[in-house]
Amino acid sequence: MKLEDAFRPVSAELRAVERELVSLSQGLSFSSIKTILERFFTTPGKYLRPALLLMSAKAIQEKPEGQTLRKLLLAAAGVELIHNASLVHDDVIDEDLERRGQPTVNAGHGNRIAILAGDTLYSKAFSIMIDALPKELLRDIVELNIHMCSAEVEQEKVRSCSEPVTKETFLSINEGKTASFMSVCCKLGSSLAGGSAAEVAKLAAFGLDFGMAFQLYDDLSDGDSDCADLDVLSEARRFASAARADLLGLGPSVGVKALTALLDHLVEKAGN
Ligand code: FPP
Ligand code: MG
Repeated sequence: MKLEDAFRPVSAELRAVERELVSLSQGLSFSSIKTILERFFTTPGKYLRPALLLMSAKAIQEKPEGQTLRKLLLAAAGVELIHNASLVHDDVIDEDLERRGQPTVNAGHGNRIAILAGDTLYSKAFSIMIDALPKELLRDIVELNIHMCSAEVEQEKVRSCSEPVTKETFLSINEGKTASFMSVCCKLGSSLAGGSAAEVAKLAAFGLDFGMAFQLYDDLSDGDSDCADLDVLSEARRFASAARADLLGLGPSVGVKALTALLDHLVEKAGN
């Protein structure tokens, strides 16, 4: 299963998200920040989080239109901005000099500008979501950011400590920095598309399990799994199976098919 094939059912919407992001960059007030951030708007990453959001919406409604579609596109652009903000800050923390084949913001402009650039992306996310999303969903996003930042702090503490990290702490960091975000994406998409509480809960659970499997496979491929206590591969497989089970009971739809294809791609890419 190729990633492009998995993404096909939401490719038209993802192009609209891309256009939304390009037009947003025009609204920045100073030319230097515009230049620094331009590439985040014009050379997109994989768009995995917007894709999860849109696929979850299509698990509820085959063809969202009108105001619902507009809200979904703004939410999808918002999560991509938050993701980019977190990567800009993450590269400062990790002192990484390259991402997506390009110098990181910290490599090109220094840490001080990179922190401000990340804050700008993060604030832009809220500026586009604030009028489009209901208060409860905005609260979920704020809580998510608290969770992500707290998990990053925990990770820093664990890395600087000589004690080996426990399995529970390792998994809770992965949940906080990656899986909770994917869960919120699935929740946003399914909620905005009008899913029932039970449907939204199933898709949020899918996002969480998918995100855990995603981060564990990523840790394996980076050789980053600093938890001796854990068989990372079998844990990744366990979360991938749980994600598959979360989709049961949702009924067949374009969205469920796309989410299944995305999961197949993740598992196949890891060679399992
Ligand atoms: C990549 O991890 C980074 C994350 C998964 C999240 C980082 C989160 C923060 C810095 C806090 C949130 C900040 C904002 C503004 C919302 P990695 O280092 O394991 O992966 P990599 O190889 O892609 O760098
Ligand atoms: Mg990093």
